[in-house]
Amino acid sequence: MLTSLPTLARWSRAIAALAGLTLLAGCDYNFWRMDGHQSTIVVDGPVARDQLHVFYVTCWVTLVIFILVGGVLAYATVKFKARSEADEHAEPPPQGHGNPLVELGLIGGSVLALVVIAIPTLNAIWTTHDVPEAQRANAYEITATGYQWWFRFEYASEQASVDANIKMPLVTGNELVIPAGRPVRIHLRTVDVIHSLWVPKLAGKVDMIPNRANFLWLQADKPGYFWGQCAEYCGDSHAVMRFRVIALGPREFNDWLDQQLQTARTVAPAPDSNRARPQFAALRSFRQNETGITAKFDVNPLEAWREKQAPEKDEDPALVAQGRALFSSKACITCHTVRGHVGAGISGPDLTHFGSRTMLAAGLLENNREQLRRWIKDPGAVKPGNKMAKGYVDNKIVISTEEEVALAAYLESLK
Ligand code: CUA
Repeated sequence: MLTSLPTLARWSRAIAALAGLTLLAGCDYNFWRMDGHQSTIVVDGPVARDQLHVFYVTCWVTLVIFILVGGVLAYATVKFKARSEADEHAEPPPQGHGNPLVELGLIGGSVLALVVIAIPTLNAIWTTHDVPEAQRANAYEITATGYQWWFRFEYASEQASVDANIKMPLVTGNELVIPAGRPVRIHLRTVDVIHSLWVPKLAGKVDMIPNRANFLWLQADKPGYFWGQCAEYCGDSHAVMRFRVIALGPREFNDWLDQQLQTARTVAPAPDSNRARPQFAALRSFRQNETGITAKFDVNPLEAWREKQAPEKDEDPALVAQGRALFSSKACITCHTVRGHVGAGISGPDLTHFGSRTMLAAGLLENNREQLRRWIKDPGAVKPGNKMAKGYVDNKIVISTEEEVALAAYLESLK
């Protein structure tokens, strides 16, 4: 019994350390609410809510067990503590081994605890496995494919224009736009290794496995902007294989679809297009953290996303035209598709409406001029091991500062 005292002391120290850490984290409101971009505690959809329910039931049951066992341990530790020299050599107190009442009670208690956990667990497995029967006809279907290290989203039911005669299913990259309040079934595929699709606030993770057709379903309660993350180790840049889910109301979702189904936007040359050379647009100043997210974008991302749908205010048509030419001559077209413009590569993300996305480099950087230039200049420095960096080396592509600015202007114009 005496040996449990140091154990108790160790526990107390651990709890004190945890409390200290909590204080260090400051009085952040979101910290205390356990909220954040990838919180599984403050959730926004029925699937995540069912999973959270199972988590809470398990937590409460284990808390009760902890209090009971810890209480008995503490009681025994104090009650049978050696208080004098004589106590230490005394006979042990009467032993209760083999008491049928206690043993049956413990077995019954354990079974009860398991049953209490099993009921909501089985229920959640049932409800989170697939869209509930009643809503199945209303489910929106999307196919998500994992690549090292980005996500491709295909809307098989939406036919997008390539030119006047040719259509292909709508494809986007790294930003999954879904209708809010409606179940979405996501078919999970991979072209290389195992990835896993995870949108913490909407649904738990399901793996994308080679040669295996998995799927998950999720639903957003209301319009919103959600963080997603690859949740299965998949190589160098696994930790920065991210994406976003944007949930929109029915009308806004339809407007978005209409916009996306169009071919890429072509910027008309300005009336004074014989201007000597394109002007370097003034660099916008912004507060930047290590991932390149502006404060405004952090505060209201859905509003920031909406703003991105409109053409940039300081667009320079001559610069855009120069960028478009470079997009072909620098071999970007071999990996990327820009429907309606030149470019039909499929090994990199579809860029037809790239300018309307809030993020680039698979949810790592904010899609603005500075970050875009940083990415174009040296993608390998941003995301180690990625194929674009390798393409630069293999094809001996070098991009000057001026070319970088023009390419960024072209990509930004693709709304
Ligand atoms: Cu893809 Cu980790």
